[in-house]
Amino acid sequence: MDKRVKLDVNGTVTEFPVIQGTQGEQGIDISRLRERTGMTTFDPGYVNTGACASHITYLDGDQGILRYRGIPIEQLADRSNFLETAYLLIHGSLPTSGEFHTFQDAITRHTMLHEDVKRFYDGFPKDAHPMAILSAVTGALSTFYQDSHDPTDPEQVNISIYRLLAKLPTIAAYSYKKSIGQPFVYPKNSLEYCTNFFHMMFSVPTESYNVTPILAKTLQRLFILHADHEQNCSTATVRLVGSSYANLFASVAAGVYALWGPRHGGANQKVLEMLEQIHADGGNVDKYVEMARDRQNPYRLYGFGHRIYKSYDPRAKILKQACDDVLAEIGLHDPLVDIARQIEAIALQDDFFLTQQLYPNVDFYSGILYKAMGFPTNMFTVLFAIGRLPGWIAHWKEMMADSRVKIGRPRQIYTGLRHRDYVDIHERTAGASSS
Ligand code: ACO
Repeated sequence: MDKRVKLDVNGTVTEFPVIQGTQGEQGIDISRLRERTGMTTFDPGYVNTGACASHITYLDGDQGILRYRGIPIEQLADRSNFLETAYLLIHGSLPTSGEFHTFQDAITRHTMLHEDVKRFYDGFPKDAHPMAILSAVTGALSTFYQDSHDPTDPEQVNISIYRLLAKLPTIAAYSYKKSIGQPFVYPKNSLEYCTNFFHMMFSVPTESYNVTPILAKTLQRLFILHADHEQNCSTATVRLVGSSYANLFASVAAGVYALWGPRHGGANQKVLEMLEQIHADGGNVDKYVEMARDRQNPYRLYGFGHRIYKSYDPRAKILKQACDDVLAEIGLHDPLVDIARQIEAIALQDDFFLTQQLYPNVDFYSGILYKAMGFPTNMFTVLFAIGRLPGWIAHWKEMMADSRVKIGRPRQIYTGLRHRDYVDIHERTAGASSS
């Protein structure tokens, strides 16, 4: 029998159905709550609110499990590549080799930016943050591709998907080249996706350039590990914007901005800045852990804590190992790694961190890897955005195909002033406006 939940409002009992997930999760379906009780819910930060049903990603924060379309993240990080993982997320199953090549070819054909896009870069200040550029230029793509704005036309959506997956690395690499005054490097379509990104970032017209294979492989892994994470802040933003039937470029541009914040994707930049600060301050790790522990002090250890994970983030586990492997293979000793390891060792035995269930998240080790690859700190969140793009697209597409989906429009509990009358300006007294 279907499970139901009873709500008693001042003696009037109303029943609500319970939705069952495939992994045992249960959600009370309150979609008719207001209609039947006159009440709404109050849930700041949507901590208890399921806004959709989704087939894409399963995440168990207590057990540290993450699966894309049922496949464990560990297997994908080990055996897949980024475009194959993107296909899996967007289309729901792993591609056959024919499907994969068609997908890869379509993306490869769209890697160049319209020449006029370059003129946007002339207008940006040299020191502009690359996340601002990424979002602005992604939004601007909608001005160049007005033939593909209709979110209900599968052909138009498909071409937008290819364009976004193909062009985001080019947009990102151009923002870096602009910041250092080097010429833009056109994409080279004979190169694989990640290798091509290194080429656009670090090659110059005057010299030959080869990517170190382990670095290209590690970037694939990083992109795969970031590719989706169900209803995080930026994905929820992409869904919310898309629910108004805004086109895919506009929805993704909004997702980039949501990701930029230091409590979300921007944490990877903050982690590295934090490690550098501790290093410059003599490496006194205890002092910073103590500051984070002090409830009167707003200081937080970036790269620690997660809304869903109440155990070790499985992505951080893979990246910690990758850090050891990559730094050993390229023969790099980074003192920041020693500091990161010390912080982790202290935090994992500390009462405050254990009771608050604060463990390293994906951002804790990713920055060290990006740094080892030669990426400047302010590009870290951009790398996260390139990785997260398939997830944003998959969720936007899933939402558009869901007949139950409505425009996203939360309610509020109004706590402001009750009715009062307009007062002419010459009759107003200072300070009266808030009374
Ligand atoms: N350092 C110190 N204390 C922390 C930290 C931290 N990194 N994270 C949470 N806390 C404390 C908070 O002060 C709070 O304490 P209180 O109960 O005494 O008020 C408690 O733990 C709960 O924290 P919230 O912010 O309420 O938890 P929430 O689930 O809303 O936030 C978040 C999760 C935003 C990730 C938080 O842990 C944080 O700010 N971490 C640092 C930033 C970071 O690394 N973000 C990346 C997350 S992963 C990602 O987005 C890709």
